[in-house]
Amino acid sequence: MEIIKWTKDLESTVSAFNGEHKFLVKTINDIYNLLMNNKREEAKKLLVEKVVSYTDKHFKHEEEVMERYGYPEEELEKHKKIHRFFVRYVVDTLAPQIEKGGDKEFREALNFIIGWLIMHIKNMDVKGYGEWFKKKGIEVPDKMVEI
Ligand SMILES: [Fe+2]
Ligand SMILES: [Fe+2]
Repeated sequence: MEIIKWTKDLESTVSAFNGEHKFLVKTINDIYNLLMNNKREEAKKLLVEKVVSYTDKHFKHEEEVMERYGYPEEELEKHKKIHRFFVRYVVDTLAPQIEKGGDKEFREALNFIIGWLIMHIKNMDVKGYGEWFKKKGIEVPDKMVEI
């Protein structure tokens, strides 16, 4: 079952980031399915080892690219702060909640992550640097970061 569907409004002109976003969406769907099949430990492992660590790599990649092409300073700082907030919230708040709680807490944490990521991709990535790169005619040649 697909909890999150990949739609066109999640896409920007930066194919490396589209690939990274798609990987995150796919992994979250996998976690959801594991949870529904009572494979809690595997689901937890995937969340910590894939989603958390890959999100961190992805954020750093985005920040490095925005810096490389001179994305406006103020926007960049805002974007970085929001990235940091998310990583900290997942590590400090959601991970312990998943560790201590049951399936309900796990699902709630996952719902937060899904909602946040989708909103961030649409509003800050696609509408932020996506629009900006498009307007400037900048093509980013990068490949997606390794998993
Ligand atoms: Fe992103
Ligand atoms: Fe971002």
